[in-house]
Amino acid sequence: MKLGIITVSDKGSKGEREDLSGPAIRASLKADAYEYQIVPDEVKDISEAIVNFVDEKKCDLVLTTGGTGLSLRDVTPEATKQVLDREIPGIAEIMRSESYKIKKTALLSRAIAGHRKKSLIINLPGSPKAVKECLKIVEPIIKHALGVLEKGSVECGA
Ligand code: MTE
Repeated sequence: MKLGIITVSDKGSKGEREDLSGPAIRASLKADAYEYQIVPDEVKDISEAIVNFVDEKKCDLVLTTGGTGLSLRDVTPEATKQVLDREIPGIAEIMRSESYKIKKTALLSRAIAGHRKKSLIINLPGSPKAVKECLKIVEPIIKHALGVLEKGSVECGA
């Protein structure tokens, strides 16, 4: 699996804050190869980074971290929605509901997930702790989701 990691952070993109979440994603998932980019909290930058990772870099799984909350600069979900072919609501829903058991403010993450072509795209919250917690929640479905996207159809069966 080729993984694309996009850290969304105004400060990180200016070198004013060390990115710990991007490396946390890398450490949490076994990937054969990966792409990594830090972008500011700008719709255009986030959308272009996702499209580049899917269309040009051929990443199977693109994970963004940060910018999913209620701050005025939080626009990752809006930027992601612009470049999805279809949303997969259940992924973000389960992240919020399971994360709520850990941290009540998890409900404030407006993260979305979906696919573009055959690539799976998931918004993760910004903290390394949240990244690890959310990946633990969604990791079990990633292989199956990528399989269905690749084949275009599959007998899910029992
Ligand atoms: N989800 C998990 N699993 N653990 C967390 O600590 N933090 C919450 C939420 N989701 C959190 C979480 C908080 S405090 C916020 S503000 C939202 O993620 C949005 O975070 P973001 O703006 O960094 O994306």
